[in-house]
Amino acid sequence: MDKMKFVLIGCGRIATLHVAGYKDNPDAELWGVCDTNASTAKKFAQEHGIPKIYKDFDEVLADKEVTAVELLLPHHLHCEYTVKACKAGKHVSVQKPMALNLAECDEMIKAARENKVLLKVFENFVFYPPYRFAKKLLDDGEIGAPVGIRLKMNNASLASRNIPIVGNMPKKGDPETEGVKETGWEVDPKSWLWRLNSTLSGGGPTVFDDGYHKFSTVMYLLGDVEKVTAWIDKTPVIPGVYNDSPAVIMWKHRDKKLYGVWDIMSSDDMYVQSKYYTCDERVEITGSRGVIWITRCTATMLPDVAPVFMYRDGKTTEFWDMKSDWADSFEASTRDFVDAIKNDREPVLSGQQGREVLKFALAAVDSARLCTEVYLDSYEDKPLPKKRGFIGNLLHGRS
Ligand SMILES: NC(=O)c1ccc[n+]([C@@H]2O[C@H](COP(=O)([O-])OP(=O)(O)OC[C@H]3O[C@@H](n4cnc5c(N)ncnc54)[C@H](O)[C@@H]3O)[C@@H](O)[C@H]2O)c1
Repeated sequence: MDKMKFVLIGCGRIATLHVAGYKDNPDAELWGVCDTNASTAKKFAQEHGIPKIYKDFDEVLADKEVTAVELLLPHHLHCEYTVKACKAGKHVSVQKPMALNLAECDEMIKAARENKVLLKVFENFVFYPPYRFAKKLLDDGEIGAPVGIRLKMNNASLASRNIPIVGNMPKKGDPETEGVKETGWEVDPKSWLWRLNSTLSGGGPTVFDDGYHKFSTVMYLLGDVEKVTAWIDKTPVIPGVYNDSPAVIMWKHRDKKLYGVWDIMSSDDMYVQSKYYTCDERVEITGSRGVIWITRCTATMLPDVAPVFMYRDGKTTEFWDMKSDWADSFEASTRDFVDAIKNDREPVLSGQQGREVLKFALAAVDSARLCTEVYLDSYEDKPLPKKRGFIGNLLHGRS
């Protein structure tokens, strides 16, 4: 049987990690790419040996050979492009966050259902092998009943190649920092333009955008959330444009005495070693009998510490025998998409799961805005602003 044909829509920063899952895949091939920037598409196709370059999205949708599309696009396009692809009978994987609001999620879920195609929200953290391993330890009761979770994020800028403004360079003559090598992967400033415009991105780059991963991870590990309380501060990136951090977010899981907290701090003078974004995540899960730590994900501040280790009954156990590169989570998530289509099953995340994660993120943002705790069941969706602003119009050729 012929392999199923997949097309990437958007060949920007994250597209590079969406290639590996098709390599040596017996069921699927990465058949084509499409990007409004033709030279970006051409360069990407050449670099990765992808046979077909489409001039626009409509051409992809009109091609009967195409089985599925992966949407790797700015967030304000997620809903519109998903609905179009569903109507053209293509299966869809849409990068996180699923959409700008819950009404858009509903449209996307409805379009997939009515056109009998599969809708996956591509949230890779739930495929990160150390998180998967920790989940198995939890499910096997290794630390007893879970009673709490802490997520810690260190965003650092010293010598980082992916900070929106010029990274904090080592200070001349400072023996502590001179000679420090650049860290992290390079991010095109254009990739930040739409991200820092909340009309296009739906919210701040840290709590709303990157946070989608964290909210998803928490729900994957410990289940549904009942209520959330958040403080989200602002840090200027350029005059009038802000990053939504530092922040502290707390929540309670549904029907359980099980609480969580996520704290995000930015340290301008800190160096974080990373092959990807210079953002380090650690997780600590406390149970009635022990504790599990997961010590890395996007970055690796603690390379000498086991990816997962556990404390129980006075003893610590280190777990090293697993893949732990961030890219491994992308590969596994792509394979989930292919397998779900092949076997006609729900993907991870399904549209409904993706909607629940978005609700958690939106409720956290609302909590900070209203200075109150927000129950997810009573969270009310907000209408989207009609104006895209100067940058939005510039990027989309609309006046
Ligand atoms: N899973 C993760 O960890 C992770 C990390 C980064 C980004 N993302 C997500 O991936 C998506 C893309 O992010 P990115 O960082 O790659 O962005 P990016 O800005 O680097 O790339 C977006 C690409 O889409 C192209 N594009 C824009 N409009 C288009 C259109 N109408 N048709 C075709 N191409 C179009 C742009 O030219 C650009 O090349 C976002 O949803 C983002 O949140 C996920």
